[in-house]
Amino acid sequence: MNDNVLIKGGRVVDPASGLDSIMDVFIENGVISKVSGGIENPPDNCSVIDSAGLLVIPGLVDMHTHLREPGFEYKETIATGTRAAVRGGFTAVCCMANTNPVNDEPAITRFILSKAASDGACPVYPIGAITVGLDGKNLAEMASLADAGCVAFSDDGKPVMDSLLMRRALEYSRIFGKPVISHSEDARLVAGGVMNEGLNATRMGLRGIPWAAEEVMIARDIALCELSGGRLHVAHISTKGSVRLIREAKARGLAVTAETCPHYFTITDEACIGYNTAAKVNPPLRARADKLAIREGLADGTIDAIATDHAPHHREEKAMGFDDAPFGISGLETALALSLRMVEKGVISLNRMIDLMSAAPCRIMGIPERRIAEGSVANITIVDPAVEWEVDPASFVSLGKNTPFEGLRLKGRAAFTIVNGRVCENFKGD
Ligand code: DOR
Repeated sequence: MNDNVLIKGGRVVDPASGLDSIMDVFIENGVISKVSGGIENPPDNCSVIDSAGLLVIPGLVDMHTHLREPGFEYKETIATGTRAAVRGGFTAVCCMANTNPVNDEPAITRFILSKAASDGACPVYPIGAITVGLDGKNLAEMASLADAGCVAFSDDGKPVMDSLLMRRALEYSRIFGKPVISHSEDARLVAGGVMNEGLNATRMGLRGIPWAAEEVMIARDIALCELSGGRLHVAHISTKGSVRLIREAKARGLAVTAETCPHYFTITDEACIGYNTAAKVNPPLRARADKLAIREGLADGTIDAIATDHAPHHREEKAMGFDDAPFGISGLETALALSLRMVEKGVISLNRMIDLMSAAPCRIMGIPERRIAEGSVANITIVDPAVEWEVDPASFVSLGKNTPFEGLRLKGRAAFTIVNGRVCENFKGD
């Protein structure tokens, strides 16, 4: 497609711009130049996307992706991960630091940024490690990481067990105004567990991870947030008690935000039955009461963002026994449809979904907000809300085919993703 694009007759929905009506959006040289009730006579050199029946929404942003490069390119690369993101409707991703080498020094951050610039299908915002090598012992050079382009700090994949180190990280992060993202699990309480503690784990003879492993750490980090005056973001919350803790912290006016992931509001630990390693994820899929509490948290504003925690792994790794297979779900290509399901069920409104998947992640990570407004760079997701499809991991462009949603019939997907003015048609010939 060429540089000038007319998105014609779609339902343009952007709560931040106060828009929800059938309109045309005209993009000139990558910038939205007109949003209006009907653009007649588009210029000759312009491509037209007939968007009748489609939703035209601000481009989605995933604040929690594992791109695996450098070091684990057999699981995913910056090229394949960002292509999966775009196919899933995302116009940018923030990538976690648990690569090899870890993103704990500026050279790695610069490598990720330059690879993203050359191979990436969408912008990549790196998240720097809190501790060197994610070893939980020594603080990384947070200032240099921030200078190199890291938008936040996290040891995601591993908890920072040392409370003093976590305190220091929160204190230092105040200097840069960037959030510290907590992977909240108490490693001692996890004690080698592989799925949620409960009847299903007991029946399968698997070691369980109790809800308290997550909540103990969230409670600690909320206290450290209060003590330090830093900004805390809690990753992938999965339990009823975590929602309660975040709700209380917010009511007390603390600078705490939280995300959850589609798997926590869609399925429970029943998905692990049959030793299904596709459902092995950290934190683990929980009980029904937790799933419902997560939905409530999404609806009432306790949970700020929906993130994918896209964690691609190789087929052979996931083919190991349940105890040995790695934790993780390949999430970029199912997140939008699973979130639209919450809209369809009346759990959240479409406006709320847009905030959870676009505006809020940008606000939290301090990256440019996606807006459908004249003068904004065109980062737009055009959603076909009616198309029905079945999750088939073989068709994922992510190298990670590990999904517990295989075979699930879903409704809605990103027909087009416009990234910095460049149009990607996602399901050509599908
Ligand atoms: O399931 C998970 N996989 N949870 C994490 O926190 C890390 C991730 C990974 O890197 O595979």
